[in-house]
This record gives sequence, C-alpha cells and structure tokens, in this order.
Amino acid sequence: MLILGLSGNFSPAGADLAPFMPDQLFHHSAACLVRDGVVIAAVEEERLNRIKRTAKFPLHAIRECLAVAGVSITDVDGVAFYFREDYVDTTLNFLYALFPQVPTLYSRQLIKRWFADEFAWALTDEKLIFAPHHDAHAMSTVMYSGIPESLVLVLDGRGEENSGTVYRAGEGRLEKLADYPAFKSLGMLYLNATQLLGYGFGDEYKMMGLAPYGDPETYRDAFSSLYLLRDKGEYDLLPSMVVPDLVGPTMLARGFTPRRKGEPFTQQHRDFAAAAQETLELIVMHVLAHWAEETGLPLCFGGGVAHNSSLNGVILRSGLFKEVFVHPASHDAGASEGAAFLAAGQLGVGSWPGRRVRTASVGPPLGSEAQVRDRLAAWRTVIDCDRQDDIVDVAAGLLAKGSVLGWAQGRSEFGPRALGNRSIVADPRPKENQDRINRMVKKRESFRPFAPVTTGAAAASYFDLPAEVAANHDFMSFVVPVREERRPELGAVTHVDGTARIQIVDPAANARFHRLVVAFGERTGTPVLLNTSFNNNAEPIVQTVDDVVTCFLTTDLDYLVVEDFLVHKRFMGRGIDLTALVLRFRPVTRLVERFAGEPGVVTHEITLDYFGGPTAPLSPSLYALLSAVDGTSTFGELVRAAGGVPDSVPDELYGLWQQRFVTLTPPLKACS
Ligand SMILES: [Fe+2]
Repeated sequence: MLILGLSGNFSPAGADLAPFMPDQLFHHSAACLVRDGVVIAAVEEERLNRIKRTAKFPLHAIRECLAVAGVSITDVDGVAFYFREDYVDTTLNFLYALFPQVPTLYSRQLIKRWFADEFAWALTDEKLIFAPHHDAHAMSTVMYSGIPESLVLVLDGRGEENSGTVYRAGEGRLEKLADYPAFKSLGMLYLNATQLLGYGFGDEYKMMGLAPYGDPETYRDAFSSLYLLRDKGEYDLLPSMVVPDLVGPTMLARGFTPRRKGEPFTQQHRDFAAAAQETLELIVMHVLAHWAEETGLPLCFGGGVAHNSSLNGVILRSGLFKEVFVHPASHDAGASEGAAFLAAGQLGVGSWPGRRVRTASVGPPLGSEAQVRDRLAAWRTVIDCDRQDDIVDVAAGLLAKGSVLGWAQGRSEFGPRALGNRSIVADPRPKENQDRINRMVKKRESFRPFAPVTTGAAAASYFDLPAEVAANHDFMSFVVPVREERRPELGAVTHVDGTARIQIVDPAANARFHRLVVAFGERTGTPVLLNTSFNNNAEPIVQTVDDVVTCFLTTDLDYLVVEDFLVHKRFMGRGIDLTALVLRFRPVTRLVERFAGEPGVVTHEITLDYFGGPTAPLSPSLYALLSAVDGTSTFGELVRAAGGVPDSVPDELYGLWQQRFVTLTPPLKACS
C-alpha cells in the first residue's frame, strides 16, 4: 500500500492563500511516500521552492517523491494530512473572516482541488485521511526508532488542543497516557523567549546555541516564577492562561531589555538564553522523570522541541532511560510521515516498527552520473570540473591541507541537518575555522557552533558518550561533552561549554561519507570532520546541481565536490563573468517602483513576496534591465539589448544573486 503524506498549508507557489499569512500557520511543508511501513521518499518543499521554512502547499515535493519512487499519482492508495480536519477548517475560518476577498474553501476542498488542477487526479473522500497532529509526530518517531515498545513524548508549539502528549507505544498501537494543553506549551514558552532576543519562529536553535555563553543564575528566579511543577509529571505555566506572551511581561518587570533584530548581544541576553534553556530542560525532565518511572520503557522523543539537541543531551545523561531515540525530522515536516503511517492503519494495512532507520537520505538524488556531468558542463563558462577516480581520496587530501569543501552526494536528507549528502566539510581542528567558515559562507552569528562527524570506532575516544544508554547518533540529535583532553584538538567544533552536537556516520548508511572521515583521519590522525549544512544565509540547504553550483559561486568555498566530480571556480567572488548565464525571476520575485510624493522622485526595489521575504534597493539601471527579463535571455543579451549598463551593475546583480532574489543559470541544454 502506497500512502502520500503531506504537511504545509494550501498556498500556491507565487502567493499566499491570504494576505500576510504567517509561515507559522500549518508550517513546514513537506511530502513523503510510505510503502508498507517504510518511507521510500520524503522531501521538504523548502528545498525545492527555495524559501526557508516555507508553508506553501508541497506541490514540488509531491512531484519529486513520485519521481524518486518511480510511481504515478494514480498508484497512490491514500493521502494523509498532518492535522485533524476540523482543527484546520476552524483555523481557516479566522483567515476568511479577516479577508473576505479570499474564497471560502476548506481543507478537504483545497487538497482535492490541488490534485485535480496539478495532477489531473480525482482524490476521493475515502482516500483522504486527516491525522491528529501529535499522533502523527508520535508515529513517525516510533516507526523510525525500530523500538517495539516505548514511551513516546511529543512536544511542540501546539498540535490541535495540546502542546504535549505522552504515549505508550506497543503492540501495534499508540496508547495516550497524558496530554498537556496548548496553554502549557513549552514550545511557545521557548519561542517567546527567542523572540525577546530579536529572533522569530524557526530561530529557536539560535537561542539554544547562545545559552552556553550565559549564566542561568541571573534570570533563574524570574523564569522560576513562570511555572509550577506538580505531582505525576504535571506542571503549570503561570500566568499563561491570560497572557499570550508567556515570558515578556515577567522579564520586562525584572529589568530585562529585549534585543532588537541585528543589535549586538549583551551579557544580559546571554544570561537570559541560558535561563530559558535551563527552564525548558527542567520542566521536560520533570515530565520525563515521572513517565520513565511509571513505564520503565525506552524513550522516543518527537515534535519540534525534540530538535533541541542540548535538551536531548540532558535526557541522554539523565539515567532515566536505557535508550533514547530522536527522529531526524521531528518538526512538522516529519509529521507528514507519521500521518501516512496512521492512514495506512486506517486503510487496513497497519504496520509497526521493524528495523531502526539509520539514514535520513530519502530525498531526491542529484541525478545519474551522465545528468550530473552534463549539468556541470553547462556551467563551464564559470567553473571547471574534473571527474576523479577516487574523489574521497582527493577530497580528504584537500581537507587535510585546510580547504573548505562543498560536498554534494546522492539523495538529500530529510530534516534540518546535513548529514553528509548536502554538507560543507572542513578540518575541525583549527579554532579559526569557525570564523573562517562563517565569513566565507554562512555570514551568521559567530557564537553558533559547528558540528562534528566521526566514526563509530573513534567516537568514544573523542566524546563522552554514556556507556549505559543507547542513542541514535546518526542524525546530530544530541549535544554531548567533548572529552576534556580532546577539546584542544577539536577547536572548530567544540562549543564554549566543551560540548558538541555529534554525528556518528554509519558505513552501511553512507559508505562514501564514512570513508571520507576515515581518510581524513588517516592523513591527520583526527578521524573527525566539521560538518555543516550546504547553504548560505539566504537559502535552505541545497538540493539540485544548480543549487549546489549557485551556492559554490556565491560564497568563498575553496572547492566543490559533486558525486565524483571536483569543481573549481574560474572566477573569484564578484569578479565572476555572468554574461553567459540566463537571468530569471523566481515565482516570488517582484520589482517595485515607488513614487515618493515629490515630483520626479522615484525609488526602485526588488522583493521576495512571501511572509518575511527580504527587500533590497535597486539602481535605476538594474531596475530597467530587470524589467526586461524574459526568462530566456542571458545577462549578456539583456545588457546588449539595453545598449550597455554602468560598470557597477554586474556587482550589484551579483549581490542580488547572493541573496537569491534572482536566479542565474546556464541555458537548460548543455553547451556543445
Ligand atoms: Fe508539531
């Protein structure tokens, strides 16, 4: 039985369902295909429409899943959605009340319409199944875990009525043991605190990265006034029933000054982050202590809060569990898988975990060797590429000499972590590599640590892994201490508190990446690599060959490895010759001309039309050139048609390309 699982809202590619629709509304759009209890394809829509954390209906993701699996939409036995129908429709009613111009269509109609319009497929009511949100989170985690009987904790911002649910999973079913209503949301508590640091939804991991720089003592009293721990794993958040902002009023009363976006962090902010993280850990451990004692079972942890790898490390070291499992996409994208598992059960073919899933690489591949070679060849005006007999050996040699590499192989990973198929890799030893990679690629906050990947054979000699607790280190889910004597050796991946978010690569799951770590170790004596996601600060993780090359050309990465090919730049940075590349708009690119009110005063901007999308000013010359974009002409052709442009325009365009306002790619057919 083939089930298509879906997450996301119902917005089309180039606009939103309703104006100002926040990306928190039915977020983390994704599609997956589950066949007989096994995920055979899964990808988040953001990787394909190139909008970070997009919530748009996962049309690209559905197409890619079908293509990867080699099936057509008519082969699909059921479609599963990751929330309950009545909850979705009630939420949509709020939108429709605010925006009377939006047609009143409900979730069932919207989903069926998408399949009718885009796939010419009549999805019947009996094939469309809506899954309770936390059941979906729980099921995805349980099915990946391979654990036949477990305690399951799901924590997120909110599901339907709840923000937390505890289950016993076993004998083919989920038995609910407890739930924690939406007004006790630990996910929202953490998000509210994150917002007081100038961040937004989806940035919670940044506060987690900041926390080790602070002293929780400064705000411990203030945070402890926000909650009350009660018997049997219960807790209250105070005064959450009346104040939607769970954290702000108390903190402001205690003299805390929120950070405005872009401002530098003060010690006050670091201490605040430390106290927020400590509070989350304290309440979650209170909940878990009760249920661990009550059930004595291993733990499966799911929901967005399970991406808090510092918390997961605390759980691991708590001694409460003999085994802890965390799903690689425990946020809402992963709930699409759980919904598919639940739908299979409803349609008569339930399944229960077999073997532990050791890989998250269930996304679309880069293509066949010929396809990859042809596409790289199409970029030949700006790159050189050579096929290597042993790319791993070549890459390990470059890494050992200090190069920073983009590394793209095979199928993309499902979830927010790059685990060796869409990674940037570097020598983990020099501490300065942290700043260097931030400067050359990420342009991000310097406090955020990079993660190490190592082998099973070397892990225990570098990291303090509790011997008595089994955990899945395949997916970078746990922060653990770096052994004290090894910290100087791992300068670029050891956080300020002596910890690291470890990945142990399994040779059976990713032989090539495992071999790269081993080969680097043979050259340097350190079988560990720095492994961070392959993207810049303006985009989701790369997916296709064009994404990979674009990221390579708009950052200062030293080399690029794509499958067996080693790629060099023919130009450095802004010196690149863009003339042979086709200049296109993305579906969300908009040009804006503003009249300032004074006669003759006009300004020009380019913007990306989605919630929180960026805007940049344009010179009149580039605005005029962009106004002539037709989707087929190269930059050089557009310049010639315009009769030339000022010397500053190529640089300005390169800046827009770096920020992904436009695309620049070779013509679709490879050059001869
Ligand atoms: Fe969720």
